[in-house]
Amino acid sequence: MAEKNIPPQVISRVAELRERLNYHNYRYYVLDDPVVSDAEFDRFMAELTRLEEAYDLATPDSPTQRVGAQPLDKFETISHRQPMLSLENAFSEAEAREFDDRLKRFLRTAEEFPYVLEPKMDGCAVELVYENGRLTTGSTRGDGYRGENVTQNLKTIHTIPLGLLTEAEPAPELLEVRGEVYMDLPEFKQYNAERLARGEPAFANPRNAAAGSLRQLDPKITAARPLKIYCYGVGEVRGRNFDTHWEVLQTLKQWGLRVNPLIERCRGIEAAIASHRDLEHRRHGLPYEIDGMVIKVDSLALQERLGAKSRSPRWALAYKFAATQATTRVLAIEVNVGRTGAVTPMAVMEPVEVGGVTVSRATLHNEDEVARKDVRVGDTVLVQRAGDVIPEVVKVIVEERPPDAKPFKMPTVCPVCGSELVRPEGEKVTRCPNPDCVASLTRGIQHFAGKSAMDIDGLGEKIVQKLVEEGLVKDVGDLYNLTEGDLIPLERFAAKSARNIVSAIEASKEVPLGRLINALGIRYVGEATAQLLARHFPSLDKLMAADQEALLHVEGVGEQVAASLQDFFAHDRNQALLKKLTTAGVRGLPPKPQAASPLGGKTFVFTGGLANLSRDEAKAMVAARGGKVTSSVSAKTDYVVAGVDPGSKLAKARELGVTILDEAKFRELLKGSG
Ligand code: IVH
Repeated sequence: MAEKNIPPQVISRVAELRERLNYHNYRYYVLDDPVVSDAEFDRFMAELTRLEEAYDLATPDSPTQRVGAQPLDKFETISHRQPMLSLENAFSEAEAREFDDRLKRFLRTAEEFPYVLEPKMDGCAVELVYENGRLTTGSTRGDGYRGENVTQNLKTIHTIPLGLLTEAEPAPELLEVRGEVYMDLPEFKQYNAERLARGEPAFANPRNAAAGSLRQLDPKITAARPLKIYCYGVGEVRGRNFDTHWEVLQTLKQWGLRVNPLIERCRGIEAAIASHRDLEHRRHGLPYEIDGMVIKVDSLALQERLGAKSRSPRWALAYKFAATQATTRVLAIEVNVGRTGAVTPMAVMEPVEVGGVTVSRATLHNEDEVARKDVRVGDTVLVQRAGDVIPEVVKVIVEERPPDAKPFKMPTVCPVCGSELVRPEGEKVTRCPNPDCVASLTRGIQHFAGKSAMDIDGLGEKIVQKLVEEGLVKDVGDLYNLTEGDLIPLERFAAKSARNIVSAIEASKEVPLGRLINALGIRYVGEATAQLLARHFPSLDKLMAADQEALLHVEGVGEQVAASLQDFFAHDRNQALLKKLTTAGVRGLPPKPQAASPLGGKTFVFTGGLANLSRDEAKAMVAARGGKVTSSVSAKTDYVVAGVDPGSKLAKARELGVTILDEAKFRELLKGSG
C-alpha cells in the first residue's frame, strides 16, 4: 500500500505507539519496574496491531513482530565482522595472579590495572546487530567466525530491545552487541517439569536449554521458552567512541540493553580475587547459573595494546568457580523419613568436593526417580549442586557399573519404626503412616521449634532426637512439661544449657497466632498462609470451628488448604494435642488490628530475588499485616526490600531516601509485627 494514501495522523500514531511499547517493554523486562498496567500495555499493542494490519504498516522491527515470523527450513550462516573469541580459564588464585603478572610483563608496567568484573553467565553467546538503532540481525557465536542467523528467535526474547532507546544517547550508526542468552533456574526447573509431564526428555542444564531453544526453526517455540539476555560487550561500533569497558557497559544500559547489575570495577588483581570469593558465596542465591567471574582490563587503549592470541584476548580472563558437578561412587542408598512421614531415598556416596563444598549425600527424590535414573549401590554417578543446597544425582555412568550391582528396591517398612510404608495410587511419595515414628516426630518438633514457628532456641536435631528416643517427648505438647532434671541426664548435657532450653520453651508459650498455626505443620499451610488465617480467625479455637465456607473466604486460601485444615482438626490425635498445648499455657496472640499494626497501610516494593521466600509468599506476608505491595518506587513508598540481584528500583529508592531492607531486616520487621 502506498504511504501517500495513509492519513498522516495514522502514521504518527503508529510511530508513537511503537515508541511507547518499546519503552514499556524496557521498563517491564529490562528494569523490572513497569510504569503501566499489563492491561494498558495490551491495549497499546492491540491498537498498533490493528493499525498496522489496516494500513499494511508492519515492519520487521515493530513491537508487534516479536513472534510473528514463519518457521524456517534451516538457519543461514552469518559472518561476524569481528571474531567472537573465547576466554582463557583460570581455576585458582595463583592462576589469576599469573594472568595479572603476565599483563604487567607484557606492558612493562608495575602499576595496578583497573579491572571490570562480571559474572560469567552459563548460557549461549549471541551477537545482536543494531543499525541506526534498529535490531537487524542476531546470531549465535558458532565457531567464533561464523554463526547461525537466529534473528527471528532472538526477537521473541523480551529483554532484547528491537530498537535502542535514544533518550540519553543517540543511536550509533552500527552497534554489535555481545551477550549471553540464558534461562533462570526456577523457570528452567518448571520448564523441565512440563517437558517430563509431556513425555519429552528433560534438558540436563539451563545452558543446554537456552542453546536448544535458540536453535528452533519455529520462532513460536522459542517464544514459549523463558529466555533472557545479559549483554557484556561489543564487537564493531561505528559512530560512538569509548575509552573504557565500563563506559561501554554503562552506555549499553542507556540504550536499553540489559547488563548484569552485579558488574563491578576494581583496581588490582587482589581486589578482583576478593570479589571472586564474594561472588562464589553469593552464587547459589542467584536465580541463574554462573560458572565464574570474568576479569577484563578496563582501559580500551590497554586492551588494544594487549591484543589477542589465536582464540582469546590477552586482556580478559574467565576465573572459574570450583566445579558444581563431580563424579563419585554410591556406597549405599538410604531412605530418609521427613516431617510428614515422606520417605525419600538418598544416595550415600564417597565424599567429593562439588562447588567448593564436600558432599556425601544426595537426594534421589522418590522411588520413580531412582528407577528412572537406575541408580544402584556401587555405581559411579555424576552429582551436582545447582541453585539449591541439596545436591542431586544427575546420572549414572553406566560403563563403570560393577557386574553384580542390583537395582534399588524401595523398602516396604519404615527403616526407623518398622511400620509398613504406604504409597497411595497416583502419588509419587511413599510415606510412613505412623504418627509416633521417631523420625517424623523429630522433624516435626524441629519445625515446631523453628524460627518462623515457636522460635525455641537450642533445640537442635541431636537434642530433639535424644528427647524422642528417650520417650521424653511424644508430641510437641510434651516439650512444655520438660524440666532441667529431664534434660541433664541426657548425654553431655550441661546444667546451663538445660536451663536455657527450658526457659526458651517457657518463653515460647505466647507467640503471634500466625506462627503458632505455622508451627503445627499442617499440610499446605506454610508461613504465609498461617499469617492470613491468623488475620481472619482471632484464635485457634475459632480456626478449628471454621467450616469450609468460612475458610474459603480467606483470600489466599483455596480448596486444598481448606480441606487440609479440616482434615487436621478432625483428627482425635490433633485435637488432643491442641488441648495439651492449651493446658500447658500455649497461646497464639491475635494480630493487632490492621490500623494499629506497624505495617498497616505501609507500602512495599520488592526488587531482586529473596533467598528463602518466593515473591508471592513475601507479598502475602506483607498483605497479612495490612501492608500493600506495589510495583514501582515513588516518594510514597515506605520500604524497598532488596534481594539478590536487585534492579533499578534500588537506585531509585536510594535517590528518594526510601528505607531499604535486606531479606534479614525484612523478616525482622515482619516478626515484630505479626
Ligand atoms: S567476554 C573476548 N563476558 O563465555 C571476550 N564472556 O569462554 C569474550 N560469557 O563465549 C567473551 N559471560 O558466551 C564474556 N561476562 C562475560 C561472559 C562471557 C559469559 C561466555 C561467552 C563466551 C564464553 C567465553
